[in-house]
Amino acid sequence: MNSELLVSDASHFRVDYEINPYMDTAIQPDTEAALAEHQAIVAAHLAAGRKVEYLPSAPECPDMVFTANAAVIRGDRAVLGCPPPERKAEIPYFRQWLADRGFEVVEAPYAFSGQGDALACGDLLLTAYGQRTDERMLEVLARELDYEVVPLRTVSSRWYDLDLTVGVIAPDTLAYCPDALDAHSLRTLRGLGADLIEVSVEEAARFALNLVSDGTTVTMAQGAPRLAAALRDRGLEVVELDTTELAKGGGGIRCTALTLDNPPAKRCP
Ligand code: ARG
Repeated sequence: MNSELLVSDASHFRVDYEINPYMDTAIQPDTEAALAEHQAIVAAHLAAGRKVEYLPSAPECPDMVFTANAAVIRGDRAVLGCPPPERKAEIPYFRQWLADRGFEVVEAPYAFSGQGDALACGDLLLTAYGQRTDERMLEVLARELDYEVVPLRTVSSRWYDLDLTVGVIAPDTLAYCPDALDAHSLRTLRGLGADLIEVSVEEAARFALNLVSDGTTVTMAQGAPRLAAALRDRGLEVVELDTTELAKGGGGIRCTALTLDNPPAKRCP
């Protein structure tokens, strides 16, 4: 899982607007440090044996480093994200790149945070609505990507994207922050039959769940020793990286990697 990822870069990463509670235009990232952080993330993906594709960021798109919001992909189909107005200018770049790569690109008719709110987990798509994703996208995603869509809701704009509150470690192993999800969502998650790792609000707020896992290596933010230990206890390789600058935009490691190779639905012969 997660062996092929699309990244951009932090060359134009800035906080020009505030569309999540972590962003403060008075606190700008240090560009050199942000570039180095991002390069270390890419290096960690490559060292873990993942394939990394690269789309250069555009000067007018200060959040383009967060490629996860561009789309969600299954097989050869991509449903594009439909972000807040501040990030709309990113979408044509991603649409073009995905089309050039041979993906069948589907427009989202409603607000949609892309993979930020839609995490593939085997044949399931864990999908949050109510923050950056319109509830009507649940049905669109089920139809367009043939996933069994599992609807979830986070409890505040602090968790504006699902990938801050749930981390897919392997199709049968999930890490999640119980305090960030509503009661119905907790029942849903606990009913999936997966091995569940609980993460505290403190660690989740440091973007600990915003991780990339291929089922062998987990690439995650520093500052979450309990989650890191729980993963190592399960025999996983854990690589912890500094994401201080990216955090000023309200994002972490998972936000900077759009998965390109989610397996297609199995068809009956
Ligand atoms: N500043 C970006 C925004 O608010 C951060 C996006 C992070 N992406 C994510 N998948 N959580 O849109």
